[in-house]
Amino acid sequence: MGRRRVTRYNDTIGPELSSGMLVLTIFLAAVIVLSVYFVCNREPDAYGDELTDDTQESEAVDETDGNVDDGRYDLISVPTEDTARGFLILVNGKTAYNFDIEEKIVSLYMNEEKSSSYGLATSGISTAQSVLGYFNTMIEAYYADTEDSKTVINSGYRSYEDQAEILQSRIDSVGEEQAYDYVARPGHSEHHTGYAFDVVSYGENADGTWLPNHCCEYGFIQRYRADKEALTGIKYEYWHYRYVGAPHAEIMMRENYCMEEYIELVGKCTYDAPLSYTDASGASYAVYTVAASDGELTEIPVPKGAKYSISGNNVGGFIVTVKTGTAAEKKGD
Ligand code: DAL
Ligand code: ZN
Repeated sequence: MGRRRVTRYNDTIGPELSSGMLVLTIFLAAVIVLSVYFVCNREPDAYGDELTDDTQESEAVDETDGNVDDGRYDLISVPTEDTARGFLILVNGKTAYNFDIEEKIVSLYMNEEKSSSYGLATSGISTAQSVLGYFNTMIEAYYADTEDSKTVINSGYRSYEDQAEILQSRIDSVGEEQAYDYVARPGHSEHHTGYAFDVVSYGENADGTWLPNHCCEYGFIQRYRADKEALTGIKYEYWHYRYVGAPHAEIMMRENYCMEEYIELVGKCTYDAPLSYTDASGASYAVYTVAASDGELTEIPVPKGAKYSISGNNVGGFIVTVKTGTAAEKKGD
């Protein structure tokens, strides 16, 4: 990856110019100035949709050193420790959650921001504030389609101690050998992130196919699927949904990747050879991974002027999601 450096020349250029050459030089200079003007002032791409809450416009970090590939990319500096933070962090039996990242967790009990389209199994259910709106929207859409008003969250955010208690209780009831089929070791549960929800319905109109079919439209995945048990290390849990955001949820659900497979796949994609994906609405994305550096900061190349979001993957890298086109552009309107 090359960096563009600006070199300044203070010496005047040697040979004197003839009047013909002078006119030609002025003409060429005018053409260059006008070209630069038109390139810099063309209409910005109309990306209307937000990727996630932390979507940003690409900005140069350093005017002279913050560019790669002849200025087509900016270098964005992020704290390297943030590789453990974001909607795409992998948490499983091999990879522990990093409790240092301090995600904001909110109780859903008596919470005015909680949608009335679902209930809570206990008053102790809480979640990450950052995903509450996405969850509300998904269950409201489910309710609108099914009129099933008996959807309940059985479990949301869990502390290390909560998980230890759940595991012990499971060991007490089914024995050590089987307990781990459905319960992660403390420190290794997705519920620590606050992005996971155990959702069930007891209603007459309950439709067990709606969430698996539609969750990805709202940024959620069914995390522990029957055909991926060997990869996730957890038996099929039809109730466990995890927020990962767009377009990742759609890619995982529609292309049948579990999160382990997806993180590995995207881990092989680089900024100059990204995974390209066009979602069901016609919006297109480029997705790639940048390895975390050994230093305090990691520099991440992002196409200039693009809308993007960055998430850690919790396995030594950052996943960059760039919006490269909108649904409207694809339809041509
Ligand atoms: N039931 C899931 C795997 C957990 O315990 O986190
Ligand atoms: Zn769960």
